[in-house]
Amino acid sequence: MSTATLNYPIEDAEAASIEIAKHVDKWRDQEGNLIMILHEIQDEHGYVPRQISMELANELDVSLARIYEVITFYQYFKLTPPGRCNIAVCNGTACYLKGAAHILSQLESKLDIKEGETTEDRAFHLETVRCIGCCGMSPSLSIDGKTYGRVRSSDISELLEEASKEKGLR
Ligand code: FES
Repeated sequence: MSTATLNYPIEDAEAASIEIAKHVDKWRDQEGNLIMILHEIQDEHGYVPRQISMELANELDVSLARIYEVITFYQYFKLTPPGRCNIAVCNGTACYLKGAAHILSQLESKLDIKEGETTEDRAFHLETVRCIGCCGMSPSLSIDGKTYGRVRSSDISELLEEASKEKGLR
């Protein structure tokens, strides 16, 4: 996922309403429009803001519960804003056996967040994923889609510094 063009957060009702009108107009009478609209919102913001879901429920005349049912069913949709830099630690079997948990806890402690959380300044988001396709180089992680293999605890600081520099963070 690219985070370069994300617009967030949407916090007030008016902004959410303008945003939703644009999507609903485009998909109004089409079958499966709820999921198509949610995709567009996720792509645009990197998550589905609650205010947007509430407006969408109004506009499409569906319950908020139905919208959340869809959002939570598909892993693609997120309920919290991403960081400008997203770190995914592989927790698949091969990586797990090679110490993924230790890598994760190092990152949690350096960033002062838990898995699934974003730092307060929205610089970093940390999550775990299942197998990123390079089991032969476990333990692995990816930073904004770029994969790193045979990661050691001693690499973590350097990886974070590199990512910060690339994104101009902090
Ligand atoms: S299990 Fe980690 S890359 Fe496959």
